[in-house]
Amino acid sequence: MIHAAITAVGHYLPEDRLTNADLEKLVDTSDEWIQSRTGIKERRILRDPTKATSYMATKACEMILERRQINPEEIDTILVGTVTPDMLFPSTACLVQANLGASNAWGFDISAACSGFLFALTTGAKFIESGHSRKVLVIGADKMSSIMDYTDRTTCIIFGDGAGAVLLEPDTDGFGVIDSIEHVDGSYGHILCMKGGGSLHPPSIATVEARMHYLHQDGKSVFKSAVKGMADVAERVMIKNGLTGSDIRFLVPHQANLRIVGATASRLGISMDKVMMNIEYYGNTTAGTLPLCLADWEEQLRKGDNLILAAFGGGFTWGASYVKWAYDGIAGPG
Ligand code: UT7
Repeated sequence: MIHAAITAVGHYLPEDRLTNADLEKLVDTSDEWIQSRTGIKERRILRDPTKATSYMATKACEMILERRQINPEEIDTILVGTVTPDMLFPSTACLVQANLGASNAWGFDISAACSGFLFALTTGAKFIESGHSRKVLVIGADKMSSIMDYTDRTTCIIFGDGAGAVLLEPDTDGFGVIDSIEHVDGSYGHILCMKGGGSLHPPSIATVEARMHYLHQDGKSVFKSAVKGMADVAERVMIKNGLTGSDIRFLVPHQANLRIVGATASRLGISMDKVMMNIEYYGNTTAGTLPLCLADWEEQLRKGDNLILAAFGGGFTWGASYVKWAYDGIAGPG
């Protein structure tokens, strides 16, 4: 049986930091409130106005190609999870394809908010499992600062910019994406959304004045649904595959809020030392969070490690994947 193994990880984080102290100057908030309610100390911001999501996504992929010494022409498929594409079209995948010089690749964007990388991973895995593709770049990238209202203290303290990517290749020894479960529930769409800029509310002076081109969320409702949704779906993937907390090397959760992740891990019987957490430094980078965790922990990962990836986001969208890690430490040439 063919599985889609993750065979390399890449990432890109802008250098500029937006700290809690910086936010105290913009809105009525405090470092103490932000840290105790979310676990966040700082986020990265892509300040260069000439650069956007495709730039970060390209950098993450270039790291993969460089480390593995892969020629861009070998890439078959490029999938980008994002809700902050450079523009509505062409897709970010097309821009990344051109930037990389991946002349034999096709690809497209996947809009699933904070579950964007997870949904792209499942999609990419199917292209590998079916024999359609042999090298798939799966990217999670968001420039959240581009849709952030820096006068709204309930949202601007949470989000940051960043991108991560993985390479998927076929494996016949039982390593890779073993199983996954995904969900959407569009009846909750209004709870976390950006209303302006689409075909329902095209940009106009009125939509800009109504601040419709910013992310809006009912934080409390998202919080409750995220705790239940992420824990339920991760538990189902684990039970389906005969896994208990002690079989899991790492839980790789969407970095939404330290308290959401803590509640999820506790439901799954996974102690916090086995949970990848970097929200402290990057905030919530939406589709970027899962591959940015993999990038930060790659050196510690060993062949055969069982990982549970779980995410929850706007849509609502949520899901979990069981991944058996395919290599030791930082991926090298080959
Ligand atoms: O990835 C999916 C996307 N989103 C999420 O995962 C977000 C999920 N939600 C959350 O993480 C949390 O709900 C928040 C961090 C957004 C808010 O935390 P909370 O503990 O749910 O706070 P709250 O909304 O219940 O607000 C409590 C109080 C309110 O004041 P009053 O009404 O009690 O006087 C807020 O006005 O805290 C106030 N508040 C703040 N105070 C200082 C809200 N934001 C801030 C702030 N600084 N930044």
